[in-house]
Amino acid sequence: MNANQAAARSASNEGGGGRRAGRMKLNRTPEWLALGKHREELGQTHLRELFAADANRGTGYTLRVGDLYIDYSKHLVTDRTLELLRELAAATGVAELREAMFRGEKINTTEDRAVLHTALRAPRDAVVEVDGVNVVPAVHEVLDKMAAFSAQVRSGEWTGFTGKRIKNVVNIGIGGSDLGPAMAYEALRAFTDRTLTVRFVSNVDGADLHEAVRDLDPAETLFIIASKTFTTIETITNAESAREWLLAGLGGDTAAVARHFVALSTNEEKVTGFGIDPANMFGFWDWVGGRYSFDSAIGLSLMIAIGPDAFREMLGGFRTVDEHFRTAPPEQNVPLLMGLLGVWYGAFFDAQSHAVLPYSHYLSRFTAYLQQLDMESNGKSVDRDGDPVEWQTGPVVWGTPGTNGQHAYYQLIHQGTKVIPADFIGFARPIGELEPKLADQHDLLMANFFAQTQALAFGKTAEEVRAEGVPEPLVPHKTFKGNHPTTTILAQDLTPAVLGQLIALYEHKVFVQGAVWNIDSFDQWGVELGKVLAKRVEPALTEGADVPGLDASSKALVTEYRKLRGR
Ligand code: F6P
Repeated sequence: MNANQAAARSASNEGGGGRRAGRMKLNRTPEWLALGKHREELGQTHLRELFAADANRGTGYTLRVGDLYIDYSKHLVTDRTLELLRELAAATGVAELREAMFRGEKINTTEDRAVLHTALRAPRDAVVEVDGVNVVPAVHEVLDKMAAFSAQVRSGEWTGFTGKRIKNVVNIGIGGSDLGPAMAYEALRAFTDRTLTVRFVSNVDGADLHEAVRDLDPAETLFIIASKTFTTIETITNAESAREWLLAGLGGDTAAVARHFVALSTNEEKVTGFGIDPANMFGFWDWVGGRYSFDSAIGLSLMIAIGPDAFREMLGGFRTVDEHFRTAPPEQNVPLLMGLLGVWYGAFFDAQSHAVLPYSHYLSRFTAYLQQLDMESNGKSVDRDGDPVEWQTGPVVWGTPGTNGQHAYYQLIHQGTKVIPADFIGFARPIGELEPKLADQHDLLMANFFAQTQALAFGKTAEEVRAEGVPEPLVPHKTFKGNHPTTTILAQDLTPAVLGQLIALYEHKVFVQGAVWNIDSFDQWGVELGKVLAKRVEPALTEGADVPGLDASSKALVTEYRKLRGR
């Protein structure tokens, strides 16, 4: 049986996910219908009313997980809403699918794969089996190998081909082989070895690699080629160019490659074919999805930057939330709650997008990372049976760090016509190394953080505007409707453990939504067509080759491109 046949069989009837096939359509379940009715009853109920009715809402609608304090009081929900949402989760088998995932069942049915990113942070003595084999020892073997290598690079023991110390690390990868380490490197800059320069190249636009290496000495540069499949054209093309750059700078001796290139991949054959010594390969497995891979070998660049101990602290943070997700009762289960809130707004408020707004400069890439995690996972329009879904699935995820967004697009969130639920993420303390004056600015940053969710929730009534003496024609313009839902996530510090907690929180939130919507959150067939077409179109650009079946618009664009390119 080949992989396609196995996946087809799995998708139709087997595995933890397969058992969900044929279940009652979500929008016909009594729980869904009850939520619809409840939504009608809720009508235009305002957060001002919900807070007025419950003096304890500000503390009662909060949860803790690990180091995170989560305030969900500014959501358009009542106790009854939450109860109905939990009933929906129960009816759609979220807990069963969660157990199947943790147990290593092949819940990614269209690819016939287990989904075990949680095993990447399992303790050494844990047992998680895939096809009857405990995968945890192999996970720790790779982690140990990464730790040993990171220590060698950090100490200077691992030198380049000419004997020079490695001072620059360039990760070449794309999607899940880039976004995670790139995001975490920014997030944890304060924990990095500041003598190292760490850069990330992902775009096949040659400008990306050019800018990353133009001021580097090849003799001091280590390239980490990160690709689960080791077939991704962007990564392989950039890796080949990097090898050329290195060899050109070091006199052309191909023996240099072994000291300057390591690979992170599941595909040893392709890694060897590229010319990288398998001894310099850090492996992982097909049960780690690309967008769930950054705590696998894919995190090597981060581990070199922050050191193995901090990396393990981060894994501990992931583990804290894994355990919470698996064991906390539904009323206290944060990823469950966050997932259900998203389902609520998508289905019953027609919310099309979800903003993630970190009030930390260090989280500048966090939302970009979440875009892949969420949108590649839940950007689906057929359910596990292959039938078109009749409900909204994953939202458009977007956002940039506060306070910059406030001076750009918050206007639309405050006064536009769209419902945009938003997560605000902030920290009580600035990083320790800030000068006193800069550290003092933190309170101003956080004052904005608290002010925004307040303004979004409660707004400003026309009466309040009038009371300020605003001329009548301007009153509608200066009125804030409010009632915009937000979650506030607050922690003391942005540490490796806290970052791990935050990421695991979103991983499991995405899981919950996929489970409720009955979609496979772990495949990504939607990215394939573009790849195939790019391969077909390239010869038309370079050689003017005829591409059979090219549509009239694309044909004209290619002709124009070639003209402008001087071909
Ligand atoms: O094309 C999408 C994708 O497959 C992502 O899911 C993945 O993270 C990315 O490409 C990179 O893939 P790889 O790690 O195999 O190079």
